Amino acid sequence: MTTVYVPRDSAARSVGADEVAAAFAEADPSLTIVRNGSRGMLWLEPLVEISSSEGRIGYGSVTPADVPGILAGTAESIGVVDEHPWLASQQRVTFARMGRTDPLSVDDYLANGGMAGLRRARTMTRAEVVAEVTESGLRGRGGAGFPAGIKWKTVMDCPDGLKFVCCNADEGDSGTYADRMVLEGDPFMLIEGMAIAAYAVGATEGYIYIRSEYPDGIATMREAIKRAEPWLDGFNLETRVGAGAYICGEETSMLESLEGKRGMVRAKPPIPAFEGLFGKPTVINNVLTLATVPTILAGGADAYQSLGVERSRGTQVFQLGGNVARGGIVETAFGITLGELVEGYGGGTRTGRPVRAVQVGGPLGAYVPTSQFDLPMDYEAFAKANAMVGHGGIVVFDESVDMAAQARFAFEFCAAESCGKCTPCRVGAVRGVEVIDRIRTGVDRDENLAVLEDLCELMTDGSLCAMGGLTPMPVRSAINHFSEDFEARQP
Ligand SMILES: Cc1cc2nc3c(=O)[nH]c(=O)nc-3n(C[C@H](O)[C@H](O)[C@H](O)COP(=O)(O)O)c2cc1C
Ligand code: SF4
Repeated sequence: MTTVYVPRDSAARSVGADEVAAAFAEADPSLTIVRNGSRGMLWLEPLVEISSSEGRIGYGSVTPADVPGILAGTAESIGVVDEHPWLASQQRVTFARMGRTDPLSVDDYLANGGMAGLRRARTMTRAEVVAEVTESGLRGRGGAGFPAGIKWKTVMDCPDGLKFVCCNADEGDSGTYADRMVLEGDPFMLIEGMAIAAYAVGATEGYIYIRSEYPDGIATMREAIKRAEPWLDGFNLETRVGAGAYICGEETSMLESLEGKRGMVRAKPPIPAFEGLFGKPTVINNVLTLATVPTILAGGADAYQSLGVERSRGTQVFQLGGNVARGGIVETAFGITLGELVEGYGGGTRTGRPVRAVQVGGPLGAYVPTSQFDLPMDYEAFAKANAMVGHGGIVVFDESVDMAAQARFAFEFCAAESCGKCTPCRVGAVRGVEVIDRIRTGVDRDENLAVLEDLCELMTDGSLCAMGGLTPMPVRSAINHFSEDFEARQP
């Protein structure tokens, strides 16, 4: 019997996957149609796969009109999907199951390695589980790269009582979508990771805070939680939906929002590990951090730790976006260079013009010029280059980009998304837009560039959180690497 796989991931649905699935069902009612997750080869969506004795044969960018040719065997395929060099050369660890399974099938999950981590964790003491996570070298994938094991140990060591595990699925960074793919494409993996965290730190309650822009992710997660209930052993897990504020991805703002309040940043200390949700000890981790935990527990810390470079251990799920020929997910060990990702996997720009800049790590990340394409993807190497890996988003721009406009946008974004609690960020962002406008129109250019640098210094040193504190990063990188764009021009 032939099985046809048509992804249900919203990236595939946005380019017609539902219509393609319907066309297959109509063309041959005897087909088994599985709505799998996406492989992350987004430039090929809808990527349809047909079961065969050699493996699953892929067909890219399928439309309903292609269906008869695919079924007749006359359409051009990309070959066996698992053997496609773009995919086969990756080191898929966290995303090992992604796109292979029906995301809501418990049987699929169990048949593909699911639950092995939680099962093993439950044979260990809490301290042993935390030690395993620490030894794996896993660092938070939400942006700051804080060691997960240290955070967990702090919560574990708090006196027993009400504790929480909160998953940050706000995924506000521009050009990032790996969290969404987990929510939609492998939700049981996140649930398993949260259940391991809850067991390790002694938490009984958990929340997944998901941005409202992810309706498919929210629906899939809710259904998956219902189906996973028997595994949770009394751990009460629920979803909560954000209301569209970037700052609610900052962990203390997220806690305020989860408590039903306006998303305002809290001063630290106390850190959430001691006094988090409703004042109780709380683990807050990004989706990818928690989703990686089952693999670590199943395969052991050493296997995970053996991948990567320096203090950046394991793999990162890089997300290629913007003006790129082959946009999608590249999961590899840390240490791959930025150039290998953009020019190699990405294939350069979609427009075919030369790459000029790449913004790495979301809207607060630096613009990196092609002269730095030999930078290894490594938290410390990027920090040394005044840049950041962040959540692994890589947004590509070709030579037509106006970097002064991008710098202006960084301030505009901050002005729109600032929570308003502290002056350097609330007022500084607005002043930043004005100063860049003066520079661009040639008003006292050199003096205003000096004012801009002063402002950047003030925001970096004086902001309460990284929203205001990191906004200068894209601005300074634009000035440092692309100063020619800051010459006067007509408004
Ligand atoms: C302005 C701002 C926005 C953030 N947005 C997110 C986000 O969308 N998702 C996320 O996981 N972390 C985000 N973070 C980082 C969180 O504050 C926090 O460090 C993270 O959720 C901790 O999880 P991790 O240790 O697993 O990375 C943001 C931080 C700042 C300052
Ligand atoms: S830096 Fe900005 S977002 Fe952060 S607390 Fe201050 S005003 Fe709020």
